[in-house]
Amino acid sequence: MSITAIVGAQWGDEGKGRIVDYLAQLSKVVIRFQGGDNAGHTIVNEYTQKTPNGKVALHLVPSGIFNPETLCIVGTGCAVNPQGILNEIKALEAIGLSTKNLWLSERTQMVLPYHGLLDSHREGTAGQLGTTKRGIGPAYTDKMARRGLRLGDLKRPTWLKTRLEQALDFANRELSYFGAPTFELETLYEQCLKWGEELAPRIVDTLPLIQQAFQQDQPILLEGQLGVMRDIDWGIYPYCTSSNPTPGFGAIGAGLPVWAIERVVAVVKAYTTIVGHGPFVSELMQDSAVGHHLREVGGEYGATTGRPRRCGWLDGVALAYSTWLNGFTDLAITKLDVLDGLAEVKICVGYRLPSGEVLTRFPDTLDLMPDLNHPDKRSTLEPVYETYPGWADTKAARAWGELPETAQRYLKRIEELTQVFGRVKPRLRYISVGAERHQMFEIG
Ligand code: GDP
Ligand code: IMO
Ligand code: MG
Repeated sequence: MSITAIVGAQWGDEGKGRIVDYLAQLSKVVIRFQGGDNAGHTIVNEYTQKTPNGKVALHLVPSGIFNPETLCIVGTGCAVNPQGILNEIKALEAIGLSTKNLWLSERTQMVLPYHGLLDSHREGTAGQLGTTKRGIGPAYTDKMARRGLRLGDLKRPTWLKTRLEQALDFANRELSYFGAPTFELETLYEQCLKWGEELAPRIVDTLPLIQQAFQQDQPILLEGQLGVMRDIDWGIYPYCTSSNPTPGFGAIGAGLPVWAIERVVAVVKAYTTIVGHGPFVSELMQDSAVGHHLREVGGEYGATTGRPRRCGWLDGVALAYSTWLNGFTDLAITKLDVLDGLAEVKICVGYRLPSGEVLTRFPDTLDLMPDLNHPDKRSTLEPVYETYPGWADTKAARAWGELPETAQRYLKRIEELTQVFGRVKPRLRYISVGAERHQMFEIG
């Protein structure tokens, strides 16, 4: 039995998609366990080469889809925009990919058009969070308020109409409050029926599929969205998403016993990026030479919204916090090549408070933001860095021994920073030095 969760160890966009695409080659099932189309999981492989820009950003479809033999399941813990997933299916089929192996849990919440509109209007008011405006927060709010609609409802017209009427009652009241256009029940109901017709064959009870794979000891991957630093409970609240990207929720969102998860792979970008608001101590301003290097060489623009990502050095304080919360067993370091050519590289190992005291433990959000009026809710704490010599080139490396010694030392230090909790001792396992499938290797 091998059940592996692949989760973001930082603030999202670590390269989860590329790691899942790689590992899915040897897996029977891949299950996306939370989040919605706020995700942008970029894949570069032989299939995506047929697209105009050579890559595909998946938003809801699990990143195992490029392996026709692998069952790909959108799990119960997700929030699915029906039009969004239909668009994604069409785009994949247009490059000749079969999506017959894609299944959607009938229990998955739906993101409906009013959710996106509510997200935009809520963002427009004070206390802006910098969301993707995909309606994720409003959809999960409805789930918890128990007025959400689920994919299975698309197959039960009478029930669908009753539920839609109740949900719209709330949504329209809030839209009116914002002075926004409201939704007509009949129009949206007709639209839902059309989505239902197109999606019905894929909307199933996914548990028997998962149970069968589990009973037969087949390898299963659980694919997370975003990263723990935006987790609704442990992330930089309120600048976070509305679900839990941590592997504990992987079991819940997929429908597996919690003890079944054997490995938790941390996807760690070799530096840090953030898209959206919130405190980020090791942030480098765009006008710094390294900040500019990271964004331009790393292509750090959001795969979903196109927004420029905020870039900075690797945050070892946040990574240690993340290691504990996720219980990592393995580290997959991505984008090492982006640091190629820098004279020196740094790791943030502490946050200096205005009092001079240095924090080495990740604190609650407001302790990171003594200046609450700062634009983008940035942190004004001073990062404490360790500095290491850089290296020339890692792109051609396909084994640990082929990496420059200085790069090895940097990676070993990252591993060390995660091994501070006694029984939680992840080890360096995968190193990625380029976006293509073959540009990564496993450390034996
Ligand atoms: P995800 O949301 O965690 O799947 O990550 P994204 O797809 O949003 O962002 C990761 C970006 O980095 C994508 O453009 C990937 O193609 C790219 N990428 C992934 N791994 C590497 C790598 O090792 N080197 C380089 N240069 N790019 C990479
Ligand atoms: P992947 O899976 C990076 C950020 C948004 C915002 C916050 C809340 O590709 O790593 P939301 O729309 O979820 O309510 O926005 O979370 N965010 C992401 N940042 N990668 C993502 O997904 C993200 N999904 C949401 O920018 O700050
Ligand atoms: Mg992404």
